[in-house]
Amino acid sequence: MTVRNRVEVMHGVNLDQLERRPPAHYGSLSLPELERLIEGYASELELMPRFFQTNHEGDFVEHLHRLEGMVDGIVLNPGAWTHYSYAIRDALELTGLPAVEVHLSDIENREGWRAHSVISDLAVGRVTGKGPEGYRDALALLRGELEE
Ligand code: DQA
Repeated sequence: MTVRNRVEVMHGVNLDQLERRPPAHYGSLSLPELERLIEGYASELELMPRFFQTNHEGDFVEHLHRLEGMVDGIVLNPGAWTHYSYAIRDALELTGLPAVEVHLSDIENREGWRAHSVISDLAVGRVTGKGPEGYRDALALLRGELEE
């Protein structure tokens, strides 16, 4: 049996500034600290994560273009692009890879414009409002999908 355990964890715009953002929504971890946590969750689940962050939408799109054959699934938090980037939506669709959408904050219960995601119907799973631990749930959802 082929093991499918390679996961791309993608962070979008402003997530490199995580520790400077409102702690009530995002907690106090920096992105490197969050990534160390995610590495721990992934290792518990026997997944192999790679990480990517950019503040440039085109780079996010081009990174998605390059994923085919490189990884088995995606966990992504596109940040504010979640709410309006049809370019990222199209690029995600063309990867053909299973993807889980994750948000640290409870986007359904913040400003109205955050409640809508243009990628959610492409995702095999979605985790919102659980802070850093949401990444454990997201990886577990993806692992379930990769085992099928
Ligand atoms: C976010 C929620 C988005 O609305 C926001 O623009 C972000 C982070 C989250 O993780 O909760 O940058 O995706």
